[in-house]
Amino acid sequence: MKLKRNIFVFAVTIAWLAVGSQVFGQSRASIDFNTAWFFRLDSVSDYRDSRVDYQDWRQLDLPHDWSIELPFDSLSAGSSGTGYLSGGVGWYKKSFTLSEEESSKRVYIEFGAIYENSEVWINNTYLGHRPNGYVPIVYDLTDHINKKGDPNIITVKVNNSKQPNSRFYAGSGIYRDVKLFFTSDVAIAYNGTFIITPVINERQAQIKTQLEIVNHSAHRQNGITVETQVYDPQGKIVSQGQIGKLRIDGEGNQFVEQNLTITHPLLWSPDTPHLYRAVTIIWEGKQELDRYTTVFGIRSFHFDAAQGFFLNGQPLKIRGVCLHSDLGALGMAFNRSAARRQLQMMKDMGVNGIRTSHNPVASEFLDLCDEMGFIVMNETFDVWKHPKNTFDYHLYWDEWYKRDFADHIKRDRNHPSLFIWCLGNEAQEQWHDPELGAAIPARLAAIVDSLDGTRPTTIANNEMSKDNPVLMSPAVDIVGYNYNHQKWASFPEDHPTGKFIVTEGTSALASRGQYDAVPVDSVRMWPLHWDIPFDGGNVDKSISAYDHVHTPWGSSHEESLRLLETYPHVSGMYVWTGFDYLGEPTPYTWPARSSYFGIVDLAGFPKDVYYLYQSAWSETPVLHILPHWNWQDGDTIDVVVYYNQADEVELFVNDVSKGRKAKEKDKLHVSWAVPYEAGSLTAVAYQDGLEVRRTTRQTTGEAVSLVIKSKRDTLNTALEELAFLEVVAVDADGNELPDFNEWINVEIQGGGTVVATDNGNPTDLTSFQSLTRKAYNGKLLIVVKGYIANGEVTVSAHSDGLKSGTRKLVVE
Ligand code: GAL
Repeated sequence: MKLKRNIFVFAVTIAWLAVGSQVFGQSRASIDFNTAWFFRLDSVSDYRDSRVDYQDWRQLDLPHDWSIELPFDSLSAGSSGTGYLSGGVGWYKKSFTLSEEESSKRVYIEFGAIYENSEVWINNTYLGHRPNGYVPIVYDLTDHINKKGDPNIITVKVNNSKQPNSRFYAGSGIYRDVKLFFTSDVAIAYNGTFIITPVINERQAQIKTQLEIVNHSAHRQNGITVETQVYDPQGKIVSQGQIGKLRIDGEGNQFVEQNLTITHPLLWSPDTPHLYRAVTIIWEGKQELDRYTTVFGIRSFHFDAAQGFFLNGQPLKIRGVCLHSDLGALGMAFNRSAARRQLQMMKDMGVNGIRTSHNPVASEFLDLCDEMGFIVMNETFDVWKHPKNTFDYHLYWDEWYKRDFADHIKRDRNHPSLFIWCLGNEAQEQWHDPELGAAIPARLAAIVDSLDGTRPTTIANNEMSKDNPVLMSPAVDIVGYNYNHQKWASFPEDHPTGKFIVTEGTSALASRGQYDAVPVDSVRMWPLHWDIPFDGGNVDKSISAYDHVHTPWGSSHEESLRLLETYPHVSGMYVWTGFDYLGEPTPYTWPARSSYFGIVDLAGFPKDVYYLYQSAWSETPVLHILPHWNWQDGDTIDVVVYYNQADEVELFVNDVSKGRKAKEKDKLHVSWAVPYEAGSLTAVAYQDGLEVRRTTRQTTGEAVSLVIKSKRDTLNTALEELAFLEVVAVDADGNELPDFNEWINVEIQGGGTVVATDNGNPTDLTSFQSLTRKAYNGKLLIVVKGYIANGEVTVSAHSDGLKSGTRKLVVE
């Protein structure tokens, strides 16, 4: 059953009323332009004409990814790489009117990104084309809009029909936020501020604001004053300064630098993500022409060849994960609450770093990294001039790379969470082009230097030969290794003055809650070699979750985690990957359609190794047993326990001790092989001989009812606000069944809608919009959005023969 699409006409009206009042009397205003778009998927007709009647198109709100709504198709041109979801050509239209006040200003439209090859028209004027699907796109509408209440039509054509164009799922459409913004003729340029903190000590921080001011009027502006006020995290003004008598030529621009000082700065770090705000005001006499806010942070850092990364003078190992930009069942459609959920889970696991692999992410994602505290390695390209796929970015490289990269840097350079620019991932130039392999890193590093002299560069390499010009590029500040964990130890000899980071590590594989009956220590490489097609594995295309299956280029989680912590010269590692993602179901193909690499599955349910990392990286007390305790009598089961903050662990089967164990040498777990007996499996952790915690896995009985769990009881109606509910099946004693895999039917009543469902099974071909889906190893996810304020939604889950589960959420 497909979801009903709700068309929120009343919400649109409210949004429009708000527009006028948001702009009124302000020198600069930015308004959400996400609601009430019309969409049509059609690669045949041409709809660029603004007179086209589109009233029978589908009405929707952005961000939107149409690929996630299409059926999985074994014949899709993107194939397993993009998760068997297809592309196509999509058209979007939206009409709007501007008040007199709004049309008296300069008007711009900003798309967070459009995947890919977008073309935009306002009324019948062509605004431009942008092949890149990840960078922000801005168009100046000022000279093309119909003023004073006459309607305007924006038309966007998105051409994602040429496939394959990506190695991983990239979605299709206007999948990030769209904004209209209004300025005066004299204003801060688009992404035209850069705030740096060249001197930081306990007593004070020097703040340098570099501003680009544009004058769009035909005449020279004299007597412009620029004022910047700095607000501390509590909102108190802590510094301010002015520069007066500036002159800006007509149709010209001017760069202005201000130096400010603040005393006793609160330093930004992953544990203390303090954010300051600089408010820059442009005055002409007493008239305010612009008011522009830049969020920034104050922190110092450096990389040391021998000792790794230092933040604010203290050594800090970067314990990071790579994340792709899709949000599982939501596809690429950016959603702040879904991104926050991912990042919070990573934070709780002890992660302090994120690699935005392999493309610019939504700027709102970096806002979250600023607020929540992550060391971000920001990556721009998966492909340079040489292709990885027939229709990928190499087609546009020559014409676009400078502009795309510069736009990416200018958008992100104020984020305090951003520490490293990663210029590319596993570029083909490593092997195939010695000349460009040397030239491209140098050119890209020069762009970073010209726009952001405060951050080092790296490149993610997977070829370790000294003949690799990309690896050996002297233009790049930090040497980045993907995988090759056998070579981490000898890095100081191999690159005597090099600073070192593991840009990507691990690539181990697992399906959540799935355990093969082979000894935990029998590590398997799937596939055997990267270019040998894989025909082994499990019939159901599952992968055992004991951390004993990995790719030939990767390692087990435990292995690379241990090496990371062993060598001080390894400044950090970004594990591939924090979450499963759509596409790349290595080592399998159809019907597997999403990855097995995640520490957390696609639905957001942790796999067992989550607790391995949490035990090593966080202060949270951990005592986690795997597997579940539903087996056949006579089986011998390997039991693994991850723990921390204890000296040893004792295992009991039905209260009979199987012995105490402590982690041996460099092992990060303890294990026992025990004959299965139905009942209870208990781990007890001891410190200094005293019990400090215990945990039990119970053999479960028949399922009797479904239960819906939710971390929240309320929801508001903001477009970006979602609730993530978890359905489990329980037996008569309330134990959750770990192997419940039956069909569940979801219903919702009240002022809300189910946006998506998922279960974390990489081979499930049910549409993510379906209200009927099988549970996978005991779990099902329901993603809910509220749309009527001051009400309630009731979500219920039904499965044959079981008592249904229900959950109420208050919609605020
Ligand atoms: C890396 C690559 C990633 C992903 C990963 C899978 O080589 O950079 O994008 O493909 O392998 O193991």
